[in-house]
Amino acid sequence: MPDRIEITIDNKKVEAEDREFLINVLNREGITIPTLCHHDRLEPYGVCRVCMVKVSWGSKSKFVTGCNYPVENGDVIDTKGRDVKKIRKMSIEALLGRCPIEPAIVEFAGKHGVMSSRFQPQKPGGDDCILCGLCVRVCDEVVGARALGFMSRGPERDICMPFMENPESCIGCGACSSVCPTTAMKMEGLKTEILKSRHGDIRPCRYTLMGFYPGGVCANSYRCWRCDIDQKYTELASMAGFEHPVFMAEVCIDESDGGDTS
Ligand code: SF4
Ligand code: SF4
Ligand code: FES
Repeated sequence: MPDRIEITIDNKKVEAEDREFLINVLNREGITIPTLCHHDRLEPYGVCRVCMVKVSWGSKSKFVTGCNYPVENGDVIDTKGRDVKKIRKMSIEALLGRCPIEPAIVEFAGKHGVMSSRFQPQKPGGDDCILCGLCVRVCDEVVGARALGFMSRGPERDICMPFMENPESCIGCGACSSVCPTTAMKMEGLKTEILKSRHGDIRPCRYTLMGFYPGGVCANSYRCWRCDIDQKYTELASMAGFEHPVFMAEVCIDESDGGDTS
């Protein structure tokens, strides 16, 4: 059993587990902070820096990323102060500079009072990817396909498929595009076409590959990408509060009745 500790968040004493990520404590307490690279079901990555909070101990304090900060006994955390909002705005301004016309980033920035940026885009016309890594992490940690990764460093850093080819391991589940906070990852239609052209007439349904539907095959060879199984799991996922069926995999595997989807 992890040790219980006491911390203070926005002047309120709160119990937590020692070194628990702050974002989990905030979620329990109903306190929201802005996030872009965080997803509750994925390991924190701490790269977008829009979730900054201030942690103080006596006369000392520092700004940390709230999504991956492990809390310690006695931490005094400020999620709303003027200096916290100011530093978050700097992070948002940097993202807006990178993606000046990406609709989701423009909207996110506007919502936080950032209407323009002093930073210049690194790609002509701006980028649509903020390099948050959500697509890479969902494909690795949840789908298990490891079909996406990062390439290069500095201004050239980008998301890619291994060896710049469509990998055999991609099952066209679309989870990457579903978690992408921008319009950058929109490959499901294309990917499905590639899958259709790659194999024979009968190929495993992608929900089988995700572990939802043991023993089943896609009888339609992905000819319609909105097949009955897709539709069923999309509806079930939304009813259960998941943004994409891939996040239901554990539940479905546990409750599996051997492939009966009727
Ligand atoms: S479609 Fe699914 S398997 Fe393919 S890259 Fe995206 S998350 Fe990975
Ligand atoms: S493509 Fe989307 S999810 Fe992937 S790193 Fe870029 S912004 Fe994040
Ligand atoms: S949400 Fe914390 S760094 Fe991105």
